[in-house]
Amino acid sequence: MNTLTQAPVSTVLERLFADADASQALLMQQMGALSSEERAALMASARSADYQAFYTRAKAFHLAVSRKTGALLYMYARMTRARSVVEFGTSFGVSTLHLAAALRDNGGGLLISAEFESSKVAAARRNIAAAGLSDLVEVREGDAQETLAGGLPESIDLVLLDGAKALYPAVLSLLESRLHAGSVLVADNADWSPEYLEIVRSSGRYFSQALHEDVEVSVRL
Ligand SMILES: C[S@@+](CC[C@H](N)C(=O)[O-])C[C@H]1O[C@@H](n2cnc3c(N)ncnc32)[C@H](O)[C@@H]1O
Repeated sequence: MNTLTQAPVSTVLERLFADADASQALLMQQMGALSSEERAALMASARSADYQAFYTRAKAFHLAVSRKTGALLYMYARMTRARSVVEFGTSFGVSTLHLAAALRDNGGGLLISAEFESSKVAAARRNIAAAGLSDLVEVREGDAQETLAGGLPESIDLVLLDGAKALYPAVLSLLESRLHAGSVLVADNADWSPEYLEIVRSSGRYFSQALHEDVEVSVRL
């Protein structure tokens, strides 16, 4: 079974990647108008007012994982035979569809995905439904620091961190007790979160490696 490359998932993903490419070009224009200090402050701040302002401004933008990262997410979820996945940062659902397709092909499970922008939550739910994957995904609306603070499965096989970068350590701490040996963490744009990199590279609890495009992949030891 490869749900990822078959309709309806493949057709929904084709449309989403085309939209994401177009919105990325527009975003680059807008970001280009900011100084590197302003950009760094927006990307790396842990103050809720800052990251909420940034993502509210970016609510029309997909900010989606790349095609390669999406494919890797599907593969990691298949390799770990994941049944239980948590995602921080749903946006319009590109990464969600890759992970949920893997759950389908693994025989079922649950993906809990956190997103605080309500227009994105609604769009992601529509996209997940169009891809025929709604039975596998629970999109939780609100700040992940609250929505992922409870109601989690006993055991989590795979985590994607792709929301506000400064919150990666805080979100990991909500999930960490539920990870098991072999659980996989994938953190997109992890270079913006040096504290997170310190945990996965130096705590002794993970084996961790930076892969392409600023993606850090870590396995719980
Ligand atoms: C980089 S995008 C996610 C892209 C998505 N993984 C994909 O592949 O399409 C980050 C998303 O995280 C959301 N976000 C950022 N910080 C959040 C928080 N604290 N709680 C919930 N959602 C958050 C933003 O609104 C944005 O939609």
